Amino acid sequence: MNNSLHNKKILIVGGSSGIGLAISKHAYKAGGQLIIASRNAAGRHNDLAALIGNGIETYSFDITSENETVSVMEEIGDIDHLVITARPEISPAPFAETDIKQAKQAFETKFWGQYQLIQKAQGHIRQNGSIILTTGIAGEKIFKNASTMTIINSATDAFCRLLAVELAPIRVNVVSPGFVAPKPPEVEAYAQQFPSGKIASPEEVADAYIYLMKNPYITGTSLVIDGGAILI
Ligand SMILES: NC(=O)c1ccc[n+]([C@@H]2O[C@H](COP(=O)([O-])OP(=O)(O)OC[C@H]3O[C@@H](n4cnc5c(N)ncnc54)[C@H](OP(=O)(O)O)[C@@H]3O)[C@@H](O)[C@H]2O)c1
Repeated sequence: MNNSLHNKKILIVGGSSGIGLAISKHAYKAGGQLIIASRNAAGRHNDLAALIGNGIETYSFDITSENETVSVMEEIGDIDHLVITARPEISPAPFAETDIKQAKQAFETKFWGQYQLIQKAQGHIRQNGSIILTTGIAGEKIFKNASTMTIINSATDAFCRLLAVELAPIRVNVVSPGFVAPKPPEVEAYAQQFPSGKIASPEEVADAYIYLMKNPYITGTSLVIDGGAILI
């Protein structure tokens, strides 16, 4: 079975920054036909091409907009892999003080955005392809001041397992990152207690997405890349 990424069409929503950018670099080097989409990706095309490679395509769309989601998928056409790393804005706060408008907006981006995108994209994903969602340590372990991400990540984890059954043979998996650079000094200091002794680089986390795209027998799984943070 050919499980190389060579010439595979890979759409990375959120591929213009952070973990998504690291996945983009890695997938492009592996021979993938790379498409990056985010609210500002097309406007940053030249910068992104300089960072990743001249063969990339970029599209601007907002994952919360149904019309923009439909249009962007029609323009892009069929793909092999869909990776979603869009990140919502959310300020840390105790549950009792969390601004419900901000929490709902975070759900709109990270949970309902992926829900809507997958409904519109599934007919474009080739049968031996895959979808990779992103959760995070707040869904694995309870941290004070992170209630919104705890709930979004937990719901996304269940969503992944549901989709792995309903969309088969398309494979559906999740990557759950721990603490990923860059982070403020106090978080770097906290991470010294982890078995890994440090936070992750975006590249270390990106490796997990590449593995899940390539391995044809993994579906419905959450791959935790947290340096052992959950253990302490
Ligand atoms: N970094 C961490 O420590 C960490 C830890 C655990 C989990 N995670 C999860 O990992 C994922 C990636 O995080 P990150 O830190 O790499 O994020 P990031 O650097 O902030 O990048 C987020 C990406 O999402 C895009 N985006 C944001 N809102 C969007 C929207 N409405 N529509 C389309 N694209 C949108 C951004 O581009 P535009 O601005 O151009 O739209 C950008 O490309 C997130 O799901 C996050 O919750 C991160």
